[in-house]
Amino acid sequence: MEGRLTGERLRPTGQPSHGAELAVLRIGDDLPRDQRPDRRHPPMLASMATRGSRTYQSTGLTAAVVDLIRVGSTGHGAGVRQLAARLLRDVPREVADAEGFRRAVHEAMSVRPSAGLRFAGGAIPTDTEGTHPLADVEPLPDGEGLVLEPDAQTELDEMVAERRHATELARAGAGMTRTVLLSGPPGVGKTLAARWLAQSVGLPLVTLDLASVVSSYLGTSGRNIRSVLDYAKTGECVLLLDEFDAIAKRRDDDADIGELKRIVNVILVELDRWPDTSLLVAATNHPQLLDPAVGRRFDRIVELGLPGREVRRAILDHLAHGASTSEPAVLDLVADVTNGSTGSDLTRLWSGALRRAVLHDTTVEEELLTQVMRSQPEASSERDELWAAVHLRLGWSHRRIAERAGVSHPTVGAAIRRVEARA
Ligand SMILES: Nc1ncnc2c1ncn2[C@@H]1O[C@H](COP(=O)(O)OP(=O)(O)O)[C@@H](O)[C@H]1O
Ligand SMILES: [Mg+2]
Repeated sequence: MEGRLTGERLRPTGQPSHGAELAVLRIGDDLPRDQRPDRRHPPMLASMATRGSRTYQSTGLTAAVVDLIRVGSTGHGAGVRQLAARLLRDVPREVADAEGFRRAVHEAMSVRPSAGLRFAGGAIPTDTEGTHPLADVEPLPDGEGLVLEPDAQTELDEMVAERRHATELARAGAGMTRTVLLSGPPGVGKTLAARWLAQSVGLPLVTLDLASVVSSYLGTSGRNIRSVLDYAKTGECVLLLDEFDAIAKRRDDDADIGELKRIVNVILVELDRWPDTSLLVAATNHPQLLDPAVGRRFDRIVELGLPGREVRRAILDHLAHGASTSEPAVLDLVADVTNGSTGSDLTRLWSGALRRAVLHDTTVEEELLTQVMRSQPEASSERDELWAAVHLRLGWSHRRIAERAGVSHPTVGAAIRRVEARA
C-alpha cells in the first residue's frame, strides 16, 4: 500500500515524470473504491493540476505565476510554499538559468517574516473594539512612477544612499536621517514618495493616517497612535505618519485640546528617540499649521512643490509609457498648458482620457487635448493660445478644434487670428 502512494510507482514505464502533482492526482486510483483517499476535499495542488496534469516545464512561466498569485491571494502560506517546492523540481521552460532560479526560489522560501515586522496574525494593532486595523501595512511597497523636482529628488536619493552606507556613516560618527517631514499641497506625491523611499531601501511601509485616527477615535487616539508606533518599532520599516497636520488642525477646538496635546507629546518624544534602523516619514499639506516645535524635531524637511513644466512632462511620459499611442508633441503641449496641476491632477487627466478613448474608440491624445481645451477659462487668452498651438503645432483644423472644444469653428478662427496678430 505505501508503494501505491507515489506517482512514480504508478507511472507506466517510459512516461516522463510529472512530479508531485501526479502523485497527488493518482493516489490510490488502483485501490478498491472504499479505500481511496477522500476526493471531496482534494489537496490544493491536486485541484490545480487537474487542468491537465501538465508540468510548468510544458505550461511555462505564465501558468506558474498565475498559480502562485491564485494561491497567494487566498492567504494560504503553506500553499505558496508547496508551489515553491514544486517550482524547485519543475522549472518553467522559459527560465534560462535553472540553477540560479532554484537558488533564488530556495532563498525566498527561507525568508522568515517573524524576524522583523509581523504582518498578520493579529500583529497589526486594531482599534479598541479590535475590528479595524489602525495601520496599513505594505510588505512590498510600490513607488513606481514618482517624478520630483531635482532638489527634492536629491534629498530622497540621499536618504536612500545613507542606508546603503550605514556602516561607514556610523564609523564616521555621522547619523542617518531617522525622521523626515514631507510638506506640500495635496496631490504632489507625498504619499507616493514615502512608498518610493520604502521600496528603494527595501523595507515594508507602515502607514498611519492621522486624520482618520484623530477624527474617529478622539479620546483613544493617543493610545491608538502609541500602539502603531510600538508596532512599527518591532521591526525595520518605513513608518508614514500621513496627514500629519491633523494633529495640529483641531487645536482651536477647546474640547480636544487636552487630548491633542497628549498626542503631540507622544509624537515629539517618539521623534527624538526614533531608532535609526527605521525611517519615520511624516507628510503634511499644511506645514503652517504645525507647531514650530514639532517641525524642528525632524532630521530633514523636504518640500514637494507643484511640478514644473519638465516634471509634468516626465510624469505624462511615465503615464504614457505602455500606452499603445503616445505622440510626444501632444504630451509636450499638455505639459506646457497644465501649469498649476499636481501629479495627481495629471494622473486623473490621463486615466479619464484613456477611459474615454476606449469607450468612444478614439485616441488618448485626442481625449487628452479635448479635456485640456474644455478646462480653459472661456474667452481667455490662455484658451486662444492653446487653440493656436493645437492648430499650428499639431496641425488640427479649425473645425476639429471647434468640435472638440465644443464651440463654433468661426470662434476658433477668430481666436487664432487674435493670437497671430499679437505675435
Ligand atoms: N510627483 C509625482 N510623480 C508621479 N506621480 C504623482 C506625483 N504626485 C502625484 N502623483 C500621482 O497622484 C497620486 C496621488 O498622489 P499622492 O502621493 O497621494 O499625493 P499627496 O500624498 O501629496 O497628496 C499618486 O499615486 C500618483 O499616481
Ligand atoms: Mg497623501
